[in-house]
Parts: sequence; structure tokens; C-alpha cells
Amino acid sequence: MSGMDVVIMAAGKGTRMQSRTPKVLHTLGGLPLIEHVIKVSLALGARRQVVVVGHGSAQVKAALAHHEALAFALQEPQLGTGHALQTAAQQLPALTPAGCTLVLSGDVPLIGLNTLQALVLASGQQHLTLLTLKTPQPQGYGRIVRSPAEGHRVLGIVEEKDASPQERLIDEVYVGVMVIPNVHLHRWLAALNNHNAQQEYYLTDLVAMAVGEGLAVHTHACLNASEVAGVNDPEQLACLERAFQLKVAQQLMREGVRLADPARIDVRGELLVSQDVEIDVGCVFEGRVLLGEGVKIGAHCVLSNAQLSAGVQVKPFTHIQGESASALVQVGESCELGPYARLRPGTVLERDVHIGNFVEIKNSSLGVGSKANHLAYVGDAQVGARVNYGAGSITANYDGANKHKTVIEDDVHVGSNSVLVAPVRLGQGGTVGAGSVISRDTPAGALSVTRAKTVSVPHWSRPQKKVNKP
Ligand code: UD1
Ligand code: CA
Repeated sequence: MSGMDVVIMAAGKGTRMQSRTPKVLHTLGGLPLIEHVIKVSLALGARRQVVVVGHGSAQVKAALAHHEALAFALQEPQLGTGHALQTAAQQLPALTPAGCTLVLSGDVPLIGLNTLQALVLASGQQHLTLLTLKTPQPQGYGRIVRSPAEGHRVLGIVEEKDASPQERLIDEVYVGVMVIPNVHLHRWLAALNNHNAQQEYYLTDLVAMAVGEGLAVHTHACLNASEVAGVNDPEQLACLERAFQLKVAQQLMREGVRLADPARIDVRGELLVSQDVEIDVGCVFEGRVLLGEGVKIGAHCVLSNAQLSAGVQVKPFTHIQGESASALVQVGESCELGPYARLRPGTVLERDVHIGNFVEIKNSSLGVGSKANHLAYVGDAQVGARVNYGAGSITANYDGANKHKTVIEDDVHVGSNSVLVAPVRLGQGGTVGAGSVISRDTPAGALSVTRAKTVSVPHWSRPQKKVNKP
């Protein structure tokens, strides 16, 4: 579609969201609403994309700054959708006369590529063409007014606030997406007025203009209401989020994932799966998550930016939090995590590692078969293979100013409730006695212990409470 430009309208206030965040920056599936629209318009192969910004324009532009090819048109004040397009048209000076301009809304995020392709096809890139919806609930939409005569050709769009009681009964509505042939665009926009109930410049008035010039106006009916549903308030946003998540869940199930309940999963990014993955209820996936063959995720886990190799088992309430989509937490084959484990950025686990309840790992690697099963902290550490890291032990990696590294060589056993004061190195095969504070390197194979010896006083009687006799 080389001759097509896209205008995305996003200058409106979004009053009903009752938020300081501009409406189009509220997220759906972890992505700002307007990013969904930009994504589909890029997939269409638009020549140029112009975003009309107004309310919160600085925030919206900053959030979209990573799109290099995007142009912005600043609409201030916002005098209606027709005025929005007038503003954008200044960015579209050299329109190819044979081409067309597709108008999208930044707050209609789930509009599908197929639907837009069909719409543009219906326009032949030369007829004014409207995306419409038949709905039992037309309230709030512009109604499509058709000729009562044979053919039922389109005569115009009447806005809800300007509509007569009769017109309000019309169940065919305009969903805010149209194709405008470039040959007429500038001329029609210049002819708009604001003589209506809202004293706004209505883009929808183009329809009557085309009809007045004897031109045919085409329509393409969208059959899927959630594709064209707009977001105006938090309730509609939540509704669309569920519609979006259900689509993601259905796609995952088509790929063979066994979901305990497709209504209770949230994917806010990219979830890539191999065969025989099972996911229990209430899990959230953020950023980029890769699940290897046979991975099982227990209930209520949050996984962001992580790669789990084949056979990994994640028990309930585990939180994995990689730094970014390009710096994933790495979990090796057949590891067992949780319940209640926490893996923070920089965690790399080789195969068969076990991380148990209330264990936090940060910026550390653990070698094959190592275990930290209970109530522990491992930070800035390089841990070898087959290490057993006892309950309640911690790496004291922070001296109040700087972070230091702990090295635990292969086959070390760290007794319970030990403190490893970094920088420190525990030599291969050594043992740390429970309750020790290790502040110097320990030799390989040795028992290192800093605990005071146990002293027992024989026949010790505990103090007694005095009882007052009556
Ligand atoms: C518009 C249509 C209506 C249609 C409905 C579908 C007009 C006159 N009416 O109505 O027929 O059924 O969408 O949702 O077009 N915007 C700007 N600048 C403005 C005003 C709006 O950029 O000055 C943007 C908004 O941010 C939004 C989009 O245009 O993304 C639609 O605006 P909105 O106020 O929601 O239009 P509606 O009154 O719902
Ligand atoms: Ca609207």
C-alpha cells in the first residue's frame, strides 16, 4: 500500500479515564494503547504515519520517540476530529493524488490487520470508505444514515448529539476509522464547519460532502465488535484487556500449551513456548519470556524477562524478574524453583539447581545441582556445582558503600544461618559450620566455623516467679 498515509488521532483528553496519564498511554497487554495502533499501521505498509497529539502531547511524544519514522501534528486547542485531520494534513503536503489516507484512533487498540486491509481494498484507494459496525448498543456512536430507497446507499453520518429520536434507533454505526481519497482530502477538510450541537469540526461531515458531489461512499462492516471497541473509561479498558488476553490464551493453546484456565492468564509482552508446557491459574508474563519443553508453572507466578530451559518446574508464588528483554534471567534444564522463590536481575542457574521458599537470588550464578532451599540470600555471588547453601544464610555483599563479590567453589556446604562477608572465597569442598560469620577466604576441604563453643551448666534451674501467700 505504497500510496497510503495513516493519521492516528490521539489529541483528545480522555476525561472519563480520570487519570493524569494521557488516555492513549494507558496499557493493554503491557503496551500503550497507541502502540497497538502503530503496530498494525506499520504492518499495513503505510507510507507515512502522522500522530495527532494535543492533551499530554509532551508525554505522548516522549513515549513514542523510539519510532523514528513517526511524524507528529500538534492540535491545540482540540476543535474536533475534522480539525484534528486539518492539523495532520499540514504534515501531508505532497499527497500522491492516486493514494489515500487512512484515519485511525489511538484509543481503538485492537483493530485488526485483516479488517484494515479489507477496508482499504473496499475503497480501491479512491472512494471515501467507512468502517462500520452493526450493534444492538449504538449509543455514543455516529449513526450511518442510508437512503430508504433500493440500494440503501450511504447519505451521511449523524452524531449522537445531533441525531433525531428516529436516527438514534439506527443500529449501524461508524467506528471512527475511514479511508479518504487524497484527490479530495485538502478541499473537503477546508470546507468543514462547526455548525452542530458540539460546535466541533466533525470529520464525519466529509460523508455528506462526498454524497453532495455525487460520489459513492463505500462501507466495510466489521463483524468483531471488540476489534473496533474504543477505550473511554477504566471499565472499557479492563473489558478490552480481557478480550485481548483471551485471544493470547487461545493462541497459546493452539500451540499446545495447557492452561488451567484461559481466563486467568496475563501476557504483557512476548511469551514463546515449546511443547508440553503447563501453566496454572493467575500467572503474569512480562517482557520476553521463553519456556522450554515440558516446563510447568504453578499458580500465581510472575515471570518477566526470563528463559526457562526444558523440564523446569516453577512452584506457586514464584517471582522471576529479569532486567530487560535483552538481559534475561537464565534457568537451566530441570531446575526447581519455589514455592515463593525470587530470582532477580542477573540470575543464571545451570541445570538441576533448586531454589526453595523465601530464597532471593540477585546477580549471581549457581552451578549444576546446587541447592538453596530455604530462607536465604545470594547476591553478587559466583556459586559452583553441587553447593548446598543452608537455610537462613546470606551473602553480605554490601558494606554500605560498595557491592562485593562472593565466590563459592564446587561442593561447598554452607551451614545454616551463616553470613558470608564479601569479598570472600570459599575453597572447594569446604564446609562452613552453622551460624558462622565468614570474613576471610576459607581453604579447600576444611571445616570453617566461627561459632562460640556450646557451654552447658549442669542442674540449672530457671528463675521462678514469686507467689504472694495469702
Ligand atoms: C467519533 C465520531 C463518531 C464515531 C466515534 C467512534 C466524529 C465527529 N465522530 O466520535 O461518529 O462513532 O468517533 O468512536 O468524528 N480527537 C482528536 N482531536 C479532537 C477530537 C478528537 O485528536 O479534537 C481524537 C480523540 O483523541 C480520539 C478520536 O479522535 O482518539 C475520536 O475522538 P472522540 O472524541 O472519542 O470522538 P467521538 O465523539 O467518540
Ligand atoms: Ca470516542
